[in-house]
Amino acid sequence: MDPEINDAIEARKAEHLQVTATRDVNTRAGAGWADIHLIHEALPELDLDAVDLSVEFLGRQLRAPIAIAAMTGGHAAARDVNAILARAAERHGLAMGVGSQRAALRNPELAYTYAVVRREAPTAFLIANLGAPQLVAQRSGQALGLAEARAAVSMIEADALAIHLNFLEESVQPEGDRQAAGCADAIRAVSEGVGVPIVAKETGAGLARSTALRLRDLGIAALDVGGVGGTSFAVIEGLRAEAQGDERGRRLGELLRDWGIPTAVTVAGAAAAGLPMVATGGVRSGLDAAKALALGATLVGVARPLLQAALEGEAAVDLWIDQLLHELRTVLFLTGSRCPTELRTRPRVILGETRAWLDQLGYLDSTLLLTGHGDSPPSC
Ligand SMILES: Cc1cc2nc3c(=O)[nH]c(=O)nc-3n(C[C@H](O)[C@H](O)[C@H](O)COP(=O)(O)O)c2cc1C
Repeated sequence: MDPEINDAIEARKAEHLQVTATRDVNTRAGAGWADIHLIHEALPELDLDAVDLSVEFLGRQLRAPIAIAAMTGGHAAARDVNAILARAAERHGLAMGVGSQRAALRNPELAYTYAVVRREAPTAFLIANLGAPQLVAQRSGQALGLAEARAAVSMIEADALAIHLNFLEESVQPEGDRQAAGCADAIRAVSEGVGVPIVAKETGAGLARSTALRLRDLGIAALDVGGVGGTSFAVIEGLRAEAQGDERGRRLGELLRDWGIPTAVTVAGAAAAGLPMVATGGVRSGLDAAKALALGATLVGVARPLLQAALEGEAAVDLWIDQLLHELRTVLFLTGSRCPTELRTRPRVILGETRAWLDQLGYLDSTLLLTGHGDSPPSC
């Protein structure tokens, strides 16, 4: 493997952390949460403490419907971030993903920066991570295949493998991988042979319903719909391009800051695939999380706020997670929901731009527009 490319990957991963932690990299467009209103239940007939936040995800029980989203690995500072986040996942009974493991597949000396998560989280649901672009040949290197996918899984003794779909990022990244033809077949081959469930994961531009259905047909076990409304990888790569004096890349990144499907819309659309689903992209509170769960998500994923907290230290991560869980529990209580899946049966009102998106894309059906009258809640 080319040591120059390895160094470049390592440097890029460190720059991603630095830029994300210190710059304004959020989309300007919202995720759509403000347009979704859950209806207050004045007579919930349930105690706040009786709300049970636990959920099943890919055959495992989590204590709350939260995933610490894939972020990092591949350089020394990433090891510490991964260790802090993994301990939090273990303490709170959450799922956790690591960042793309390509760096360690190319340079096994970096494996420790990922493997630390299993050491610190012996029982948590852990998700390995590879990029779909790297499953086909690129200028940056040969295609990774089944052997590398298995190696990524065993590196962290993962319970699942996320294959990320990040062609927006690759399009803006100065050194990006832009060959996409053949990815679907490559994803199918990995899903058939890797031995753990595959999560197809967008990283901030969302999955259209038709794409979600195609992914299901490729053998994908779960979706992480990663929509617009949170961290913008177009901006992150645009800022990296700017630092390299690449004005064309900077302008493209800014132009595409809000490119994609808002998270609330992609959740509602992808629910038609009937797969377990993680809603990532701009989830910043327990109220956002409750809305995502009401629209059909199984879990919500959170990335940037937890990175910023992890850089402050362990206590800040705990504080952030405790607050989110407290908010989520309260919203379940106030909607009379005993568990996260019951939120799906609760009445809601959808207004504004989100409603227009849903309407024009044909996602506004009767399951989405529940009135709550006569709906029988599933048992929790
Ligand atoms: C610094 C950073 C690095 C990331 N690296 C990866 C990655 O390697 N693989 C991946 O699937 N997603 C990656 N993501 C995307 C996140 O998992 C998530 O989808 C996205 O940041 C949106 O969530 P947020 O709005 O809560 O930040 C990364 C995000 C951040 C902030």
